Amino acid sequence: MIAEILVLVLIVVSVKYYANFRRHMSFAKDLHTVQPCYPIIGNIMKILWKNDEDRFHGLMEGFRHPSKLFKFWLAFIPLLTTNDPGMIQKILTHPQCMQKPYIYKLIESKFGLLVADDPIWKRQRKALNPTFNLKVLNGFIPVFDKHAQSLVNELFQKPIGKKVQFTEMVTRCTLGMVCATTIGLNIYEDANMDRIPHLFDKVWELVSARILNPFIHMKSIYRLTKNCKLEKALRQEHAKLIDEVFQDAKIQRAKREDANSDGYRKPNIFIDQLLDLHYKKIFNDIEVSDNVTTMIMAGSDTSGTELGIIAQLLAMYPHLQDKVYQEIRRVFPTNDELHFTLENLGQLQYMEKFIKEALRLFPIAPVILRQATSDVVLDGLRIPSGTILTVCIYNLHRRKDIWGPDAEEFNPENFTPERIKSRHPFAYLPFSGGNRNCIGYRYGMISMKIIVVHLLLNFKLKSDLTCHRELRVKFNTLLKLSVEPGLVLEHRNDQF
Ligand code: HEM
Repeated sequence: MIAEILVLVLIVVSVKYYANFRRHMSFAKDLHTVQPCYPIIGNIMKILWKNDEDRFHGLMEGFRHPSKLFKFWLAFIPLLTTNDPGMIQKILTHPQCMQKPYIYKLIESKFGLLVADDPIWKRQRKALNPTFNLKVLNGFIPVFDKHAQSLVNELFQKPIGKKVQFTEMVTRCTLGMVCATTIGLNIYEDANMDRIPHLFDKVWELVSARILNPFIHMKSIYRLTKNCKLEKALRQEHAKLIDEVFQDAKIQRAKREDANSDGYRKPNIFIDQLLDLHYKKIFNDIEVSDNVTTMIMAGSDTSGTELGIIAQLLAMYPHLQDKVYQEIRRVFPTNDELHFTLENLGQLQYMEKFIKEALRLFPIAPVILRQATSDVVLDGLRIPSGTILTVCIYNLHRRKDIWGPDAEEFNPENFTPERIKSRHPFAYLPFSGGNRNCIGYRYGMISMKIIVVHLLLNFKLKSDLTCHRELRVKFNTLLKLSVEPGLVLEHRNDQF
């Protein structure tokens, strides 16, 4: 009898839930639905049982349609999707669309800026914006320089003519930069910390697999899987390492000196600024540690992965590499004068175009999501509160109506001032747009430029690949190389 009652209750609840859901989605009945679409599993066949690369391309294909807004069903989860710059601008600048949907919570770090819920995020972002201002970034330049030099020294240790796994090495370098500027830690001096990139990578992998499988989004179901146990163990190890540096940073701060051993004024590192906010009671303990983790996570893998791609592009297009190199030589005529400033880095205009073009074809965050926190009207369509909005940056950056018939070609000239001016302001969004854009975009650009300068002043880059289409990518929450093609480094003999 009890079982029958339970089944009846279950049926009534399911029917009610389904009816509510239908009512909720009725606003979108006239919008295009990506095909093929099946009950319960939606469009999941685009990504199910595919290898990493096919899954990435299946997902991007699913998110591609000329309509301004269309529906992609991640199984039973409807994603209202767009690649249209006008619509994207409306979403990313709408005050009621600043929320990240629950899918981001799978990344955890709940109180970090990347994931935090709208009201918390607003307070945090306001407090954290000044921690990335130009004065602070200027103070970081010697740290970037030192780490880029260490990378070059490591590369010199590699046998000449043999392929190096560059992405891994450069990601360690960007992690070093972020750890130094975030928590004042030198990862090259602490063997334990060497595990951090590996831990991040494994966690990203598990999180991506979970994001793409809505059937294990629910914690109670995920808990039954092997991945959950593995993820938990990795996170515990990671949290322990972060806690060690956090405690250390507190001690260091107590006996802070004005100058460090290298003689330059100690930059105003992120944790000191966070601790200031903590003492002023603007951030609590968990917000401080989640934001430290967020910065390390968001700041190292992104630039490291992109630099791995940039190095490949420089290697496969030697004539463009030569242009970047010649420009470096004009700005830094002798090796002795390698003194970076925001001004001379700003003069590396061609390099900037090259990096921007790399970010166009290979945007690290190929897809970003938002959630409406109340009913919003976009282009006359009333979108109910709670709807998940998807912006596919990867497809936006390859639209032929924006980038021309050669949209798929690699061409840094896409970023001449005239062409930039002629495009919609939301046609190019490697760092997202609106108030919830990347807080570290200038940090990322400056550090990437310094690494490229050091790299090209010392080496000619060579690769087996001859075209960017040969780069194989996958979706690992971020866009990542699925196969590291390896880079051959030839020492430069130019004497200056
Ligand atoms: C090549 C370098 C980078 C790229 C392409 C990049 C891209 C992005 C994108 C697209 C977003 C928006 C994500 C979303 O809305 O879901 C974002 C957010 C963010 N990025 Fe970056 N990023 C880079 C480097 C960095 C660096 C160096 C840092 C910090 C040191 C950083 C910290 C953050 C943070 C904290 C957020 C969340 C901002 C918020 O929600 O207010 N990023 N990034």
